[in-house]
Amino acid sequence: MSIEKRLFGKTPQGEEVFEFVLANDNAEVSLISRGAALRRLLVADKDGEKRDVLLGFDDLEGYIERSDYQGVAVGPFANRIEGGRLKIGGKEIIVPPNEKGRNLLHSGGLYSNAVWSGEVSGDNKVVFKKRFKDMEGGFPGNTDAEISYTLESDGTVLMEYKAVSDSDMYFNLTNHAYFNLAGYDGGDILSHKLKINADSFLPVDENSIPTGESRKVEGTPFDFREFKEIGRDIEADYEQLKLTGGYDHCFCLNDFGKGCRLAASVKCEKSGLCLDVFTDLPGVQLYTGNFLSGTVGKGGKPMNHRTGFCLETQYYPDSPNKPQFPSCYVKAGEVFFTKTSYRVYRY
Ligand code: BGC
Repeated sequence: MSIEKRLFGKTPQGEEVFEFVLANDNAEVSLISRGAALRRLLVADKDGEKRDVLLGFDDLEGYIERSDYQGVAVGPFANRIEGGRLKIGGKEIIVPPNEKGRNLLHSGGLYSNAVWSGEVSGDNKVVFKKRFKDMEGGFPGNTDAEISYTLESDGTVLMEYKAVSDSDMYFNLTNHAYFNLAGYDGGDILSHKLKINADSFLPVDENSIPTGESRKVEGTPFDFREFKEIGRDIEADYEQLKLTGGYDHCFCLNDFGKGCRLAASVKCEKSGLCLDVFTDLPGVQLYTGNFLSGTVGKGGKPMNHRTGFCLETQYYPDSPNKPQFPSCYVKAGEVFFTKTSYRVYRY
């Protein structure tokens, strides 16, 4: 096991951004303090060649200028909130929308664009911390947020999210890594086989806001209860896929409330690599990179349409405005804590 820390770059405001590289016999992972982000994840493929299975950038400029939320932590509330509307302590608060003038998406990048302070802890863990001030980004409360990454001996990358605020708040933190198990330059991800342990998903309206319905996946293109190629039904004549140009939906994971369980697995024949995602959260957003459109990423390669997929574990989008969804309302002084892990290995 080894951990290295180095300067990754400086923001235009002069803030130093550090990179931490953790390695053991099964994986090498690199993290950067801007966005508390997962930048690289290298695992040996079926031929013993190390592949970096994450899309992203070689330098800080890429993360700042062309982000697409590559690899970053998202918070305080990941995904969309209709109108940026939150009811906190009986009072309505509007956080300025940043999408089409009507939705708040990924909290306007508040956590993703911040430079966090990073510290090595023990021999296999990095902890990122950041204090967000009351009304920063439009959110109430002075908040202490903490995101840690642990590289376990079997190559699992464990992500733990903690937040505590002096105001009541909705917390919903996630990681926005784009995976391609054939490598960042591996072409589209349509032949990857995906399994999601979800019997239902959340249909959305034309603005990608959940309608409030949770629909059984059975008999729909959203049925990933057994391994299925991501591309098999992606172009199906099904309204929910047409609305979002591919998968961009939250799946309702089975067995919420029973601790950490396997949420999803993805296999790639070309590399012989498999990704397992474990979480204690109720949902996972499957986003198939429908809006990737050629941004230049690692190795000068364009990140084209559907060359990466995200499995963003989370509370359901717009849950602050949907009382029927599991609540992530956290009282002032209470600790919000969740965990998710990614493990990539030869299957
Ligand atoms: C959303 C997509 C969005 C992407 C990048 C995903 O979490 O579901 O709609 O384009 O993030 O912002």
